[in-house]
Amino acid sequence: MRVSDQLAAKLADLGAEVQHEVSLATRTSLEIGGTTDELILRRYDRIAEVMSLLANEQIPWRFLGGGTNVLIEDGELSWVALHLASSRGGMRVEGNAAYIEASADLGGAVTFCAKHDLGGMEGLIGVPGSVGGALRMNAGAYGTQIGPHVREVDLFRAATGKLETLRGAEIRFDYRHTSFAPNDVMLNVKLELPAKPYKEILAGIRVCNEKRRASQPLNQRSAGCIFKNPPGGSAGRMIDELGLKGLRVGGAMVSDRHANFFVNAGGAMCADMLGLIGAVRERVRDAYGVELENEVIVWQN
Ligand code: EPU
Repeated sequence: MRVSDQLAAKLADLGAEVQHEVSLATRTSLEIGGTTDELILRRYDRIAEVMSLLANEQIPWRFLGGGTNVLIEDGELSWVALHLASSRGGMRVEGNAAYIEASADLGGAVTFCAKHDLGGMEGLIGVPGSVGGALRMNAGAYGTQIGPHVREVDLFRAATGKLETLRGAEIRFDYRHTSFAPNDVMLNVKLELPAKPYKEILAGIRVCNEKRRASQPLNQRSAGCIFKNPPGGSAGRMIDELGLKGLRVGGAMVSDRHANFFVNAGGAMCADMLGLIGAVRERVRDAYGVELENEVIVWQN
């Protein structure tokens, strides 16, 4: 979708920079996604005005964070992509509280807190993506989830058109799911973390990194795990037991390292990935009677 020059000028006044015809394949870890205009939001205090301008002009939008857990359709997209300008070093610590901008890199935030002797997030070290994305998904790994550490979130709520602050207790954090609305835009978070010496945190981080390196295809283009684990089960183990590692649809392939990672093995389109997801889901349903639920967020018109 193209933003007119007239609208782009009004947006610029509100600190939103328009980039035309961006391939969102360059914005996602799967390197899949069609083309649209992108708005980089540089001023959090003007976001409500940007959103109201877009609403008045009837421009649909989707908010793209780190792009590490999303599968975007191919072709010319019928919405614009919104993106927060990269964090301007927006992290600080006061006692046990860490204040972090949602656009910050999650791994960078874990390391920053560690250097201030605040632990509890070691397991999240290798989870790719932004802090905002981690909040939305309640990212987790190796026994750690971000949700329990959240004390406050500043966000733009499309439902009210306002900037709001939610207390942690007002947000439901479940397994890879939260009570945030799909069009809530996370801006800042306050985390409360246990004090721990940097060296101890570092040792924990090393263990998690090693486990991850041993089991996950880190240097391939993926969106992490494609399916949520079913209650009490493991999607990766089931797919592996069915001998589906290496299964391909076009350029999309079940990783031969971890069966719940589907990788772009070269030139994959969204349709390939959806085809592979559908084929694997069917095989698991037939063999185990389990309906796997997507963990990856799929954006289709
Ligand atoms: N397994 C296989 N074959 C495989 C993959 C896994 O047999 O190809 C077996 C493993 O041997 C193990 C079990 O399945 O016995 C579970 O595997 P793993 O320890 O790799 O954990 P997972 O349940 O597959 C979850 C999260 C990961 C997270 C890891 C580590 C989900 C869907 N996945 O994976 O998160 O990094 O635990 O805590 O909850 C993500 O959310 O995108 C993600 C990668």
